Amino acid sequence: MTRANERHNVDRSQDITQPLDKLHDNERIKAESNYLRGRLHESLAERITGTVLGDDHQLTKFFGTYVQDDRDLRDERRRKMLEPAYEFMIRVRMPAGVCRPEQWRALDELACTRANGTLRLTTRQTFQFHGVLKRDLVATMQGIHDTLLDTLAACGDDNRGVMATPVPEFSATHAAVYPIAKQVSDRLLPRTRAFHEIFLNEQPVYEGHKEGPAVEEEPLYGRTYLPRKFKIGFAIPPVNDVDVFTQDIGFIAIAGADGTLQGFNVAVGGGMGRTDNDTRTYPRLGDVLGFIEPETAADVAEAIVAIQRDFGNRVDRKLARMKYTIDRHGLAWFVDELQERLGWDLAPARHYAFETSQDRYGWTQNADGTWNYTLFVENGRVKDTDDRPMMTGLREIAKVHQGDLRVTPNQNLIVARIPEDRVGEIQALLESHGIVAATEQSTVRRHAMACVAFPTCGMAMAESERYFPAFMTRIEAMLEEVGLGDAPIVMRMTGCNNGCARPYVAEVGFSGRAPGHYNLYLGGGYFGERLAKPYLDNADEATILAHLRPMLAAYAEEREHGEPFGDFLIRKGYVAKVAHGLDFNA
Ligand code: HEM
Ligand code: SF4
Repeated sequence: MTRANERHNVDRSQDITQPLDKLHDNERIKAESNYLRGRLHESLAERITGTVLGDDHQLTKFFGTYVQDDRDLRDERRRKMLEPAYEFMIRVRMPAGVCRPEQWRALDELACTRANGTLRLTTRQTFQFHGVLKRDLVATMQGIHDTLLDTLAACGDDNRGVMATPVPEFSATHAAVYPIAKQVSDRLLPRTRAFHEIFLNEQPVYEGHKEGPAVEEEPLYGRTYLPRKFKIGFAIPPVNDVDVFTQDIGFIAIAGADGTLQGFNVAVGGGMGRTDNDTRTYPRLGDVLGFIEPETAADVAEAIVAIQRDFGNRVDRKLARMKYTIDRHGLAWFVDELQERLGWDLAPARHYAFETSQDRYGWTQNADGTWNYTLFVENGRVKDTDDRPMMTGLREIAKVHQGDLRVTPNQNLIVARIPEDRVGEIQALLESHGIVAATEQSTVRRHAMACVAFPTCGMAMAESERYFPAFMTRIEAMLEEVGLGDAPIVMRMTGCNNGCARPYVAEVGFSGRAPGHYNLYLGGGYFGERLAKPYLDNADEATILAHLRPMLAAYAEEREHGEPFGDFLIRKGYVAKVAHGLDFNA
């Protein structure tokens, strides 16, 4: 056991600079929750309201579900003196985005019977259900559990779903990285049985009161879990699809020429979220600390999580992510603390090179002769439309497919490891359900991502998923006009400053400020190696397009061979280069 576990069951951050009387109220909620139980039993049984009671709002997140309300209906319901149209979002925990066809079929059925009939593929390689009513919540959770998946720690102040590059062609490296990603996910799971009691009818193991003796322990997290969410991703170069530098911990796989995994470079301190008009907050990319052996990854992850548990800010949640802990104490301090907890030193970082953060669409073949089809799912929303019954098509594919299905970090899907003799059958299904046509889009559209935003996300200030396709149509037209045709520019939009679709590392990023108004960020690295810089504040579409047009025209004329748009914008002085998160607001 590493020293990470020695300071177990802390109730509070050990960082003495934090005044205990000023701890954020969420710290009290966690501490008093009896290891996340709160009053959830009562809350879920209560039939008068479609939501949960008081503090329980914070606790459901640890089980992968948020209360939301349909924001399209908010005003109308208020006028009618009705409570908001409450519904739950449920997020599945699916390490590295891999599921089996029978799991897909079960999730598809739950989406159709208990949720809004769509499946959302997320930017962290999992599924979200939207529109689940409170009365269906427990049954939906049980349905997910029956598929041998769960929703534990999919949201909340804990380690979220662990990501990993899903590219099946990297079969040797993927085969080694995938179990390690799962191992890290398992190691960092909360140990409380609360989820099983509340959603799976397990007999209570812990009936203590808040002052009472704990018969249950959270060896890593303690009663107050982490100060804030925590994210981990594994990237397999040359593909940085997981945006490894945006993770609290990024593991960069180092493989030999034959694909054999040698170990990982470890990066720490990434994070996207920021708050408008609060320059203490900023997106940050991780710093590479050094190299580790594959079998130590879970120990290293646990020790890093424990540092953040002990030193993260529990007073101000806006400053609570590990990126701020690192900048407050310094990277050298962090490395010392980590090495002391591990009892050994990291080796010097090894050479690696990323080339892209994007998916390779269409057909690819694996070394063992099996095939993959990567399909484009616009903004991750799997649904049926009149000309593109994608949800039905994928259901049909899941009935006959023998390999697996992989959600990519770009909200797309890979039908992976199809035996050679079944390729024709899958191709016919892809074609007859409009999925091939959906995939054959412009490169700029296929590189784009948007978060959910309206109508479900309570944080949204502007449209994102519902608006971005129309915006991309205008961009496509503009690219044609200036002679850029099928340029591979990376554009991402979110409905608020939280940055769920990672806009701050896009070459062109947007975050919503008000209906129809966005901040514009420019100059991010093509493969996620550099942050973008704020360029316009609270601008409407016409203003944004008026600024982008001359830049795109100049790019068409003056770019160097192979020069990405983000690099070009910096070279030509349109925006300053952001070398560190601390420069973002400067
Ligand atoms: C900082 C504060 C943040 C808050 C309060 C927050 C909250 C939320 C909420 C409520 C949703 C559900 C939206 C819906 O489905 O209707 C959501 C979606 C999501 N968030 Fe965040 N988020 C934050 C930051 C981030 C960041 C920085 C990332 C990753 C870089 C992220 C990743 C995701 C993902 C993967 C989804 C699923 C939907 C999608 O792929 O667009 N979140 N977030
Ligand atoms: S970025 Fe904001 S609007 Fe978009 S899903 Fe995240 S919290 Fe919601």
